[in-house]
Amino acid sequence: MTTESDFLVIGSGIAGLSVALKLAQHGSVAIITKKEEAESNTNYAQGGIAAVIAKDDSFEIHISDTLKAGAGLCNKDAVNTLVQQGPNRVNELVKWGTEFSRKTDSTRNGFDLGREGGHSKNRIVHARDLTGREVENSLLDAIKAHPEIRIYEEHCAIELITEHHIRRKSLPSSADTVHCWGAYVLDTASGSIKMFLSKYTILATGGCGQVYLHTTNPKIATGDGIAMAFRAGARIANLEFMQFHPTTLFHQKADSFLISEAVRGFGGVLKTKDGAKFMENYHSMGSLAPRDIVARAIDAELKKRGENCVYLDITHLDADALIDRFPHIYAKCLSYNIDITKQPIPVVPAAHYMCGGVETDINGRTNIANLYACGEVACTGVHGANRLASNSLLEAVVFSHQIYRNILDQKDRISTVHFPEIQAWDDSGTFNQEEWILIQHDKEEIQSLMWDYVGIVRSNLRLQRAQRRVNLICNEIEKFYKKTKITEGLLELRNLAFTAKLIINCALHRKESRGLHYTTDYPETDDENWQKDTVVYRRNKNHKILIIQD
Ligand code: FAD
Ligand code: SIN
Repeated sequence: MTTESDFLVIGSGIAGLSVALKLAQHGSVAIITKKEEAESNTNYAQGGIAAVIAKDDSFEIHISDTLKAGAGLCNKDAVNTLVQQGPNRVNELVKWGTEFSRKTDSTRNGFDLGREGGHSKNRIVHARDLTGREVENSLLDAIKAHPEIRIYEEHCAIELITEHHIRRKSLPSSADTVHCWGAYVLDTASGSIKMFLSKYTILATGGCGQVYLHTTNPKIATGDGIAMAFRAGARIANLEFMQFHPTTLFHQKADSFLISEAVRGFGGVLKTKDGAKFMENYHSMGSLAPRDIVARAIDAELKKRGENCVYLDITHLDADALIDRFPHIYAKCLSYNIDITKQPIPVVPAAHYMCGGVETDINGRTNIANLYACGEVACTGVHGANRLASNSLLEAVVFSHQIYRNILDQKDRISTVHFPEIQAWDDSGTFNQEEWILIQHDKEEIQSLMWDYVGIVRSNLRLQRAQRRVNLICNEIEKFYKKTKITEGLLELRNLAFTAKLIINCALHRKESRGLHYTTDYPETDDENWQKDTVVYRRNKNHKILIIQD
């Protein structure tokens, strides 16, 4: 089956939904999403969206905080764009129906502005501690009311369609750059493989936290976008910068439930088991230092003391105010018999956010023609070596807008372009194999390896060990993939393994410590040689990796 549309959006988080709403003004939009429509990292976001709204704040200060967190690797033009568009994009979300928490305070334009690590002002708009759910639901409501948008749930993208898939006789004569024409997609309900053809394709597949054993990310975050784009020939940048969130609930059954940084912004203090504050020994901003510093400090304290967790103490604050501001965190902790108004919360770091991704320019364009990327899957350059808290929902809406504007400049193409003839997906010679145990085992092995050897503190020895093992697993998966009827689990495993491999390659390549990448072999930052992005791309059709620095 083939579906044709002007725009194909892959992913239904904040990035995909906001770009779809804009593009729908100029053509038909198909959104495919691999699970139920709301299931995304966006849906779990707690803290909020950073934007310059308060009277005592300014673009300069937000830019400066972002650059400081980014440890010398941010793209300054991208950061300027991010920050300067912030207030407009927040107002646009309000127009689309998002209800943020309010406060009667004219110096803050009526918003209740929170504070998070690395920010020197209160600038986080939020919907209590369920910001993501509020944003996701309001965008989905707006999408459903739009006649030009159709959303396909349980549709998992397999590969991007490029020149490689065009029937030779229909190839345009001067095709020397790679173009994207949509994607092959698995309809998981029926098991059929469909072609979604489009004049423009927007990759909005989110992050890859599931590469790690402990992560705040839901199960969908398996790096599909990074792996698909790499295989299609896109440039991928800065994958060594995986952000570990310092505070997730330490409880066997809690599945790395996030305790928002906004809790520290509200007055929560990090302490060791014996009740001593420790963050002041690591940074002048104490418990509100940038995330990389807090996560490393916790890691160091745990190793030094041989303890399993540290504690986030908010018991000194007014209980009613706490419950009102953090109803979700309060209820969740209480379900594990932790009353946060009376007991310090046991916390540990977990993998949270991929700062690198598919390299784009300031307009969201990748190096593949007609392929754009936005949201967590993209590397726009705004985060550099470490993302400032709550800059990522903002990045998603700002660069969705950039994409919309860029495509609008090529409006004439939308009505004139014709699709080439694309080969149907060929799965001859593949069989159904009841090998779920292999998939589960490989996934857990990769997640454990990545957690143990490619975590908060790295070394050459650990990275090389991880590389040898992950390469082996990748090769086995590739062989299995070629002879097996595709399932969603197999696709995710293949992408997860490949993303892990790329992360390790990038981490081994960077011979210094910077931002989120800390290695005991090169503990210093080396601006002279390494103030550059790490870029990987496909060298040949066997997916051999070529690393360059830009
Ligand atoms: P996502 O929201 O993850 O959406 C990706 C979509 O792509 C999903 O619909 C998924 O199903 C789909 N998809 C993936 N692969 C495929 C495929 N192969 N085929 C089809 N569909 C596919 N950031 C902030 O700025 N502020 C916060 O307060 C904040 N809190 C957070 C709290 C948590 C617990 C987490 C996990 C993250 C938080 N973040 C926060 C980060 C932020 O939520 C994400 O970076 C952001 O939501 C990413 O949005 P996205 O649209 O790019 O991706
Ligand atoms: C949080 O609420 O701590 C998450 C914020 C973010 O990831 O930006």
